[in-house]
Formats: sequence, C-alpha cells, structure tokens
Amino acid sequence: MSLKQHIETMLPAIEQELQEQVARLDARHTLHFHEMLTYHMGWTGEGAGREATGKRIRPMIVLLATASAGADWKPSLPAAAAVELMHNFSLVHDDVQDNSDKRRGRETVWKKWGVPMAINVGDALFVMSNQAMMDLIKTHPASNVVRAAAILHDTCLDLTRGQFLDMSYEERNDLSLEDYWPMVGGKTSALLSACTHIGALLGNAGEAEQEAYRQFGYHLGLAFQVQDDILGIWGDEAVTGKSAASDLVEGKNSLPVLYALGKQGKFAERWMQGPITANEVKEVASQLEDEGGRDYAEEMSEKETQIALEHLIKANPRGAAGEAMLELANMLLKRNQ
Ligand code: IPE
Ligand code: IPE
Ligand code: MG
Ligand code: MG
Repeated sequence: MSLKQHIETMLPAIEQELQEQVARLDARHTLHFHEMLTYHMGWTGEGAGREATGKRIRPMIVLLATASAGADWKPSLPAAAAVELMHNFSLVHDDVQDNSDKRRGRETVWKKWGVPMAINVGDALFVMSNQAMMDLIKTHPASNVVRAAAILHDTCLDLTRGQFLDMSYEERNDLSLEDYWPMVGGKTSALLSACTHIGALLGNAGEAEQEAYRQFGYHLGLAFQVQDDILGIWGDEAVTGKSAASDLVEGKNSLPVLYALGKQGKFAERWMQGPITANEVKEVASQLEDEGGRDYAEEMSEKETQIALEHLIKANPRGAAGEAMLELANMLLKRNQ
C-alpha cells in the first residue's frame, strides 16, 4: 500500500475521531462556540472542505508510526486526534500572536470573532486534546496512557518556549544562525517528535526504537519548519492559504533572514533600518534570494530530512506503513503548501 492509499484509509477515520472529540462542546447554550471550532477545523462555514482542514500530517504520522512499529493503527486514533487538536490550538493562538489574518485560505478565528474569542477557542482545543488522549484508556494499559499524556504535556511546554523565542526575536537584531534552532525545536519539532514517539509507544516499540522514532520526528520537524519559512516568503498564497508577505512584514527572524543578516549585504542594511512595508515585500524578497537566503534554507531542509531518514532506518519501520512513512518524509521536503 502506498502513502496515498494509507491516506485514503486513515484520513476519514481521523476526521471522524476529531469530530467526535469536538462534539463534547456541542451543547444548546453554546452552539455558536461549537461553530467557531468546527469553522477552524475546516468542517463548517464559508469555504469548508478538504482545503480548509489543513494537511492533517500529524495524526497521519501517529498512525503510520504505530503501524510501522508492527501494530494495528486503529486503537491509536484518540492519540492522533489529540496531536491534531493540540496543533490547532497552537495555530489559533499563533495567528493572534503573529497578527495573521489568513489561514488555510480563510479568515483566521481572531479576524472573524475577535482576539478574546480566539483565545477561548484555542483554550477549548487545548483541553479537548488532553481529553482525547485520556480516551486511550479504553484500549491501552494505563501505564502507556500516562506516558503518552506526559509526552504531550512536555511537548506543550516546549511549544510555548519556542513561541516565546519566536516572538521575542521580533524585537532583536543581534541574532545569528545558532539562535534559530532552539526556537524551531520548540515551536514545531516538539510536536512532530511527540507524534512519532507516541505512535511508536502505542505500537509497543521497544525503548531504543521509540527513541529512534522520536529523533526521526524531531529532525523531520526542523526540515518542515525550514520549508515553512521558505513558503512564508516565496510561497504562492493561493496554495499555502497564508499571506506570503507577513513573515517579512512581521519582522520574523526566519532561517533565510538570519543567513542573509550574517552576509551583511544590502538585505541586512535594509532589515536593520526597521519594518518592511507591504509594498516593499516583493523587492526585499528577491534581494534576499539573490544573497543566498533561499538556497541556504533549501540546503538545510534537505540536510535535516536526511538526518531524519537516518533515524527512521534505525527505528526499523516495518511493512507498507514503514514505506509510506519514508514516502511522507520525502514528500514534505518538496511540499508547496
Ligand atoms: C503549520 O503547520 C505550522 C507549522 C508548524 C509550520 P502545517 O503546515 O502542518 O499546517 P496545516 O495543519 O496543514 O494547516
Ligand atoms: C509555527 O509557527 C508553530 C506554531 C504554530 C506553534 P509559524 O508562525 O511559523 O507558522 P505559520 O506559518 O503561521 O503556520
Ligand atoms: Mg508564529
Ligand atoms: Mg504564524
């Protein structure tokens, strides 16, 4: 079975599990609150549908890790829902933090209903993520459920550390390339490593294999965020569903930017003068490309993908799901959304 076939089988089960988890909120007096969540998850409202749900790669990775560790993936569905709900909690808050008005081709929650409501929507997704993880108790030994929950909690703390660095870096112009990796390790890799780790744990992988899966997810996360940085500057808005200008306008110290700052050329000179305005973005982005920022980031993304794949081999992935996991890692390197 190819990756495509795995996606076709697993994705409907993931969506169903997610909808059941979010239905906890579906009570008479708070119907509109429930709607805010179903809107963000991509199921309701204008533009609802496959494009509005996002890629759902994190729950796919949980299920593929369980299957490639040699177990049935279906009992891992609550954990798959848990990581996707956690991801979506972080996106709703991230869009407030980054002042982003577009996500998955649609208006962000804060843009539609205001910042106070968006904070509350994020909070609900966060809690439901933890509740979903507790549902594992129906099919797994308590010791594994506690372990999976602990991994998720550690991840959340790492995520907030990464977001702290990301936001505090906006105010700084003394940063170098080394400052990049702790930020990305927190904001993106922590959750991806939790996906591979929890998936392997629930698939009853041994300690050494779990560690290899964890490392695989971590480096995949680094490569994934570097790609996101590239798409955040040079991506096609119609495909990414996010505003391409915003990373430069927001002053994000993404990998291409940090690389070019080190070159101390024309780009660095302009960056130091203060915020880039929306009508300068095109020119500044092409200057950044000329000074090697894009090539460097592409190289790093490739390098981290290679490291990730070396860990995956050590994890000894089995069968068609193992093949599909390899295919997924290679696909993410070439993604355009
Ligand atoms: C976006 O993640 C945030 C990052 C960690 C880069 P995805 O690109 O997985 O977002 P969706 O869920 O597919 O929209
Ligand atoms: C990604 O943050 C990580 C989290 C959402 C926690 P970014 O701000 O880089 O991601 P996008 O580009 O908005 O999806
Ligand atoms: Mg952000
Ligand atoms: Mg953002």
